[in-house]
Amino acid sequence: MAERRVAIIGCGQLAQMMAQEGRSLGITFSFVALGEESTVCVQDLGEVVRVGDSPDAGSLYRELGCPEVITTEREDVPPGLLRALQEFCPVYPQADAVEKTQHRLREKLALLESGVPVAPFLPAENYHDVCAAIGYLGYPAFIKACESGYDGKNQWRVDSVAQLEQLRDELAPGSYVVEKGVPFSREVSIVGVRSASGETRSYPLTENRHENGTLLVSRAPAADGNGELETAQRYLATLLDDWDYVGVLTMECFVTRSGILVNELAPRVHNSGHWTLAGAPVSQFANHLRAILGMPLGDTTCAQPAAMVNMLGVDTIPRTPNEGVWLYGKRRRPGRKLGHVIMLDESTESLDRRVEEVLAELYTSDTPERSANA
Ligand SMILES: Nc1ncnc2c1ncn2[C@@H]1O[C@H](COP(=O)(O)OP(=O)(O)O)[C@@H](O)[C@H]1O
Ligand SMILES: [Mg+2]
Repeated sequence: MAERRVAIIGCGQLAQMMAQEGRSLGITFSFVALGEESTVCVQDLGEVVRVGDSPDAGSLYRELGCPEVITTEREDVPPGLLRALQEFCPVYPQADAVEKTQHRLREKLALLESGVPVAPFLPAENYHDVCAAIGYLGYPAFIKACESGYDGKNQWRVDSVAQLEQLRDELAPGSYVVEKGVPFSREVSIVGVRSASGETRSYPLTENRHENGTLLVSRAPAADGNGELETAQRYLATLLDDWDYVGVLTMECFVTRSGILVNELAPRVHNSGHWTLAGAPVSQFANHLRAILGMPLGDTTCAQPAAMVNMLGVDTIPRTPNEGVWLYGKRRRPGRKLGHVIMLDESTESLDRRVEEVLAELYTSDTPERSANA
């Protein structure tokens, strides 16, 4: 088989798992380290090129070994860099899609444009606007910075006037969206993929449990009470086609009494799709690579219930029977995503029991705070 080379922007665990999964497809990798980011996750997986603020795209492309296609494992990539690289080879997902999803207001407007419902929201630029928006939307409300928010960072939930007033000095002028707090019964996500030839597939709906804004447990397939799977699949397929998207796109949703509301999108493989490494015939990482290289997409079904438990600040291997433990090789820090455990089971009940056992094993009373994310 001829060598196929893919360059990945970013050097974290998503790039690591993509490269590991790509080996069996005969793909060679190189990586772009942005600024000071750590490269420990991709050590020995390929050449790493570190770049500063405004790298020369031509030299970067050559230093990366003239890849067939360039992709990204992170959404905070400068769209200008993606556009400049596009002069040399295809860049997937495309800069336009990445640019939309890295800004919460642009993302919500793009969702509405495709007819996908989101929670009621208003834009805000300062504390005064936020107060006016909450006056209209009511409590509880979520104030989110438009950029640089992840794992619950750069956002505030406010339940009362008193809490809002506490933010008076903290909230620097900038771009925010204020969202109405949604009374959801469950949080779910769906990982979809579209190939350069227009073929699309999606994995089963996954149910997610967060703690302090960080994903702790994912379980698939999520119970499908009111046709949520079909609705989520339809929304995602609409976005993939409207955006002419290539690669994996993840959609996080709230399930409410009146249906699904989309919370946010990630233009990449996603933590809530890690279970596919053991729970689906072809993982989200392998399907992302197939999509961007124009190969046929692989089977996204899930033969039996699967669960993934994040290892936040802990790296002990649990005794509870599991399908595998993925450790990313990162240094331990409180709350840091160091790895995950995957479990499969014939019955949802016994799978749920094992999830609780693993949580109890990982997070004993003397383990560091799993919420102190870093
Ligand atoms: N409008 C909302 N209503 C209710 N809960 C919300 C709302 N927005 C966010 N949350 C809660 O906060 C979590 C993190 O918010 P999210 O927008 O997904 O930010 P992040 O980029 O940090 O994941 C969500 O998973 C959900 O639990
Ligand atoms: Mg989120």
